[in-house]
Amino acid sequence: MTGLVTPPAHLRRVTLEEPEAFLVWLSTVMGGALRLDDFELLHPWAIVALAALGRKKSSGEHIDTSLSAGSSAAKFAHAIGFEDVVEGKDSGLAHQPRRTVRMQSVAYPNFPQIDGVARNTSDLVVRSSAEDAAAKTIFHVVVELLRNAVQHSRDPLGGVVVAQRMDAGEKRIQVAVADNGIGIQSALLAKHPTLSDPRTALEKAIQPHISGTFEEGLTGTSGNAGLGLFFVAEMAKLTAGTMLVASRGASLFLRGDREDPTNHQLSFLGGGAQYPGTLVVFEAPVASVHVYGPMIEVINQRAKDRMPGRALHKWLLFQKPPSGTSEILVDVASENTAEAQAYAQKKLVPHLARKQAIALNFRNFEIVTQSFIHALLYEAIRVAWALKTPIYIVDAQPAVRSTLEFLETYALAG
Ligand SMILES: Nc1ncnc2c1ncn2[C@@H]1O[C@H](COP(=O)(O)OP(=O)(O)OP(=O)(O)O)[C@@H](O)[C@H]1O
Ligand SMILES: [Mg+2]
Repeated sequence: MTGLVTPPAHLRRVTLEEPEAFLVWLSTVMGGALRLDDFELLHPWAIVALAALGRKKSSGEHIDTSLSAGSSAAKFAHAIGFEDVVEGKDSGLAHQPRRTVRMQSVAYPNFPQIDGVARNTSDLVVRSSAEDAAAKTIFHVVVELLRNAVQHSRDPLGGVVVAQRMDAGEKRIQVAVADNGIGIQSALLAKHPTLSDPRTALEKAIQPHISGTFEEGLTGTSGNAGLGLFFVAEMAKLTAGTMLVASRGASLFLRGDREDPTNHQLSFLGGGAQYPGTLVVFEAPVASVHVYGPMIEVINQRAKDRMPGRALHKWLLFQKPPSGTSEILVDVASENTAEAQAYAQKKLVPHLARKQAIALNFRNFEIVTQSFIHALLYEAIRVAWALKTPIYIVDAQPAVRSTLEFLETYALAG
């Protein structure tokens, strides 16, 4: 094999307890070749990570992988269908009931396939109906992670998934999904241009209502709610589990607290640990996944608590306008709502309709009523929102400001 890279001695055993060094090393292997027989132990997530990079794409780099089932790591990789995934063959999943969950690959745009793959995967790792909650949890995690790989990664080969029951010591279930795509930060940047730091981007991606498909402050599009990774992260927290999100530029590690389910630790792996695509691993102790429905209710409530007001305080900006913004001194008499409406039509809306930001000076007002502010700005704020053009507010007393903020909340709701 050309460009063969052999793992250093300390990387022959790769587990989820110590993912950092393996991830740092993996980035250096892109474009080269490796033999799985050079490893002694590869936990399922590491095999998925390698398989996603081993698939040959028409463009971009991959890793040339080979195995002759000489080491136990290579035997395990072979048993879960490593070569089939790398070569793009059907893995024959149905023939291995309840023994080994074979890896599968779901490519864009095969969304309908995701459900079946997730069902097979979760059925196969779970041994009895007593573990029903664990099966549902795994199903949920696989669906969200595969949808993300297929929808957001832009890897034409999509995502590779495996779930494995690990019965040595405490019984745990591990799920991993990997793609060789653009990474989370790039996917988020278009709608979140300030996310210039890859760590901040990962931290943001696991928050509710954050998505590369809409701007912060909104709650969703017809296709996405920005809740997939949030749910997986909350499940890890609530089951005293672990979540690893390794993507281009950074790797985030989340661990639920066994003693206190309201507590968790979030950290970033150091040393340049990242993944040339996106790799998400979820692991939970089987015994800690008692219930599914109530867990989802808790997570829904957490998402609700953190839902941005349906409207965002975004188009009324209480800050100094950029120079050159036309400033308008609001000089219409307070309480005259008809006049306020006519004033807005004549003086405010035309600027906004041309996507020109305006600055409204409220220095003439000690106090204003809701109906006045409504008459003055209800239509203007909706035009501002529709055309993404801000209205700056200057010299507003606190009471005026809170009335303006309330207007924005309800004017843009629903
Ligand atoms: N595999 C991936 N590759 C690239 N970007 C990703 C990947 N997974 C997630 N992302 C980015 O992280 C964002 C958040 O993902 P998340 O699953 O939480 O929300 P969503 O997919 O946008 O919405 P939902 O899952 O509710 O349909 C995505 O919108 C996307 O920008
Ligand atoms: Mg998603």
